[in-house]
Amino acid sequence: MSIELQNIHFSYGRVKALNGVSLSIGEGATGLLGPNGAGKSTLLKIMLGFLTPSEGQGKVLGYDVRTEQKSIRRLVGYMPEDECFIPGMDAVTFTALMGELSGMPRQEAMKRAHEVLFYVGLGESRYRLVDTYSAGMKQRLKLAQALVHDPKLLFLDEPTSNLDPTGRQEILELIGEVASVRDIRVLLSSNILADVELICDRVVIINHGEIAAVGRIEDLQMINYQLYELKIKGELDGFRQELEAAGCRLEETEDRLVKIYTPPDFDHKKIFMSAARNRVQVRQFIRSRTSLEDLFARVVGVD
Ligand SMILES: Nc1ncnc2c1ncn2[C@@H]1O[C@H](COP(=O)(O)OP(=O)(O)OP(=O)(O)O)[C@@H](O)[C@H]1O
Ligand SMILES: [Mg+2]
Repeated sequence: MSIELQNIHFSYGRVKALNGVSLSIGEGATGLLGPNGAGKSTLLKIMLGFLTPSEGQGKVLGYDVRTEQKSIRRLVGYMPEDECFIPGMDAVTFTALMGELSGMPRQEAMKRAHEVLFYVGLGESRYRLVDTYSAGMKQRLKLAQALVHDPKLLFLDEPTSNLDPTGRQEILELIGEVASVRDIRVLLSSNILADVELICDRVVIINHGEIAAVGRIEDLQMINYQLYELKIKGELDGFRQELEAAGCRLEETEDRLVKIYTPPDFDHKKIFMSAARNRVQVRQFIRSRTSLEDLFARVVGVD
């Protein structure tokens, strides 16, 4: 396990930011999805040991978040949501300094700073003052400083905020590459479903300081689908093949009970037409919604 949290509570004075968060995250890329104020940044800061939970325990890569912060920071790269730059410093000096702060020897940190800046596409601009960077360059520099010490796990806090569509696409491509090609585990905090869908294979939905849902992205993608529950009589195979060819997904939940997820704009009459063609009797037909759809709608406020 990369991350294991049990019953984490945290308050800023009277503001309860996390209210009993328990979570296990394994390999791959995971999205931490939630609206503004949900507690995403607070949770990342707890896992890095910047904030101490008032209750609960947690481990990151096997190290205790309360007592082994140094080991955690050596192995975890962190891209904060706010600007983390030092005014008057050029990009390579800044990145090397961040490497040193993560426990690297000075010379090695400088060597890696050059490499990692080329990697994120800032090679040509690495001696420029960070103050002169565009928003897109700043985000890439934030990613570079998170990668400088070769972390096993990356925490990215809203890496696409403040970016235009091109800048957003560029940083997402880089993150996707880091997550797959470079074999680093990623936890991507975001309030944009599309970003999470692009990068992650699993998602954790957080709202009001509590975990609202955990699941595979494939299940989350079903939120655009309409769900029908049918009781049928007859042979399912031909019926299934026809509907699957039309983009539906069928699940047989128990004997003669079938769930059909249909894509957006799919006319449900086609289900009856296909049933008739395949001599399947529809005994019951209930239009329902996926539970994840309901959850997500409640959490992010879309419908
Ligand atoms: N330094 C602080 N002092 C007081 N309250 C805070 C502080 N930081 C966060 N909060 C509050 O704690 C709650 C959780 O905030 P947090 O920043 O973790 O949410 P978030 O999911 O990262 O939101 P966003 O998407 O806006 O970054 C919010 O109600 C927020 O107002
Ligand atoms: Mg935040």
